[in-house]
Amino acid sequence: MTKEILAVYPGSFDPPTNGHLDIVMRASCLFPKIIVAITENVSKRHIFSLEKRINLFEKITENLKNVEVTSFSGLLANYLERINSFILIRGLRALSDFEYEFQMALMNRKLNKKIETIFLMTDQTYTFISSNMVKEIAMLGGNIIDFVPKCVDEELKKHVMGLSKENFAKQC
Ligand code: PNS
Repeated sequence: MTKEILAVYPGSFDPPTNGHLDIVMRASCLFPKIIVAITENVSKRHIFSLEKRINLFEKITENLKNVEVTSFSGLLANYLERINSFILIRGLRALSDFEYEFQMALMNRKLNKKIETIFLMTDQTYTFISSNMVKEIAMLGGNIIDFVPKCVDEELKKHVMGLSKENFAKQC
């Protein structure tokens, strides 16, 4: 029985892609309220600050009235307990994501047995899109407009133009 009506869509979203947007749009039709909870993933190097990622996600979801964008630090399981929500939404792209997502879902449930992770299968239009690939293509001057919302495309272009040669080499 689902008593909680608040679902959390966590991620690093560096940057948010059309695939992320599709998941949050579909989740917003399933639950009365969705919190997009953005954090640092310690195993990834982010190019956009937390504030910038929040700002971009707010822009792309401005028409979704039941979606709120925020950040958290520390363990996701603790954050969920603090806000009294135990439903996690994650997108699943084909086989490549499964092991990592399965492990994370089980670990979160081990940390707090109230947590349930609900996976939404990525729409086939977006199944090959990843934030990492989008960043790499943008850094190398490729066109990413089919993969990300317009404001993300613009922000990535600005970021690439602002990079010194030295930083460009480091981030590529
Ligand atoms: O978009 P990502 O980078 O795949 O999202 C992963 C994220 C941020 C949801 C995950 O790394 C996370 O929950 N980080 C918070 C710290 C934590 O709780 N780690 C244990 C996860 S089992």
